[in-house]
Amino acid sequence: MITPGVYHVLMGVFPYLCFMAKVKTAFFCQACGYEAPKWLGKCPSCNAWNTFVEELSSSSKAESIPFSRQSGNAKPRPISEIEQKATARLPLKDSELNRVLGGGITQGAMVLIGGDPGIGKSTLLLQMAIQEPCRVLYVSGEESEQQIKLRAERIGITNPGCELLIETDVIRIISVAEQQLPQILIIDSIQTLFAPHIESAPGSVSQVRESTALLLRFAKETGVSVFLIGHITKEGSIAGPKVLEHMVDTVLQFEGDRNHFYRLLRTVKNRFGSTNELGIYEMQGNGLRMVENPSEILISHTDEALSGTAIATTIEGLRPLQVEVQALVSTAAYGTPQRSSNGFDSKRLNMLLAVLEKRCSFRLASKDVFLNIAGGIKVDDTAVDLAVIMAILSSNVDLPISKGFTFAAEIGLSGEIRPVSRVETRISEAEKLGYTHIFVSAYNKGLKTNGTKIKVIALKKVEEAVKNVFSQE
Ligand code: TYD
Ligand code: MG
Repeated sequence: MITPGVYHVLMGVFPYLCFMAKVKTAFFCQACGYEAPKWLGKCPSCNAWNTFVEELSSSSKAESIPFSRQSGNAKPRPISEIEQKATARLPLKDSELNRVLGGGITQGAMVLIGGDPGIGKSTLLLQMAIQEPCRVLYVSGEESEQQIKLRAERIGITNPGCELLIETDVIRIISVAEQQLPQILIIDSIQTLFAPHIESAPGSVSQVRESTALLLRFAKETGVSVFLIGHITKEGSIAGPKVLEHMVDTVLQFEGDRNHFYRLLRTVKNRFGSTNELGIYEMQGNGLRMVENPSEILISHTDEALSGTAIATTIEGLRPLQVEVQALVSTAAYGTPQRSSNGFDSKRLNMLLAVLEKRCSFRLASKDVFLNIAGGIKVDDTAVDLAVIMAILSSNVDLPISKGFTFAAEIGLSGEIRPVSRVETRISEAEKLGYTHIFVSAYNKGLKTNGTKIKVIALKKVEEAVKNVFSQE
């Protein structure tokens, strides 16, 4: 029997019961954004442990809308009838940033910049904000006005059109941006933002996804270009869900060794230009300096040739880059020889050592091998292979390689010298920088060895390379 007292209690609780029934929650992996109805210890998508957190389900709203209303007024059109508008780009003063963005920032584009803490993400964007002669709104959720002012003074340029806002509520940020209508909106960082209608904490998957979605809609509707700064996880990927990377137009990675002053800005994804572009900066006391000619800084300028160094002509994106490979081979003091490499894939180093052992009968099994790419940079280009082998051999026999030599070839497992992409660009870059000989693969298609000032030496096997390098002076 329901007494009046029980009745009142029930009626008091009833609206909450109804409300609670509507709100659906789910568990989200904080590493990759995978959604599961139950808590899981290990994420089935990215295999991370203990990353599930309960948050509001993304599907709870979508389910309540009937299909006929979801589609709106959108109608398909033949692709041939769509007239192409020239994408408006704003060329930036920062030539390196211009290059990685594919020639300036596109209107309404959303760019995500990721990088380790302290690498200089805030500095890079603040510098851009205060040197561009246009209206910029810099929103920070990480630092105070005073801190940012201090940094701006350090960089030493002032743009009267650059405004600063300390805020973390994304709805308020968007309403301020709608009033000000800047050309560029900078958010430092996406992990500090929160949307008040989502219950979870800032930085969680739902919050990051919702804030990005709101900002993305704002960017597309108003044509304001948005730069987002994103934190990076321990493993080196951008923190928060992978969907973040899918949503934005461009993803840039800011990297470098904290002990070195060089910083590389790489394109990971770009809807408005080519990927694998590279911008190089030097961190100085008064901000980041653009490095126009990277080859000059990455190569040590000693007067005498030293053993154990070889110069590789690599290409990063569209940009030829000379890197110095340094090797040290010494007799192993303990049973198992050490192999250590900095800036070069250590598995690839082991493979190259095995090739050397087999093809050139060098007994490196009892030797420690240390490899380093000068300047603290990382190279992925396989064209460094030949330079790595040459640096190791040079250190092993303690014979320096002539300073005018540079290498651009990949090594195959049977010791063959394999062709690399865009060999002409590499040759002309090496020639421009004053090298006298470049060693490439004879299998490069259409390779011209005559008519250049630089001597192009085409090789087929590692053995030939060894003979050529150490006998030619
Ligand atoms: P910061 O830009 O705050 O890095 P992030 O936003 O990626 O965490 O910090 C960059 C580092 O660079 C910081 O340790 C101080 C240093 N720095 C300089 O060396 N020169 C400068 O002109 C500035 C502004 C910073
Ligand atoms: Mg910062």
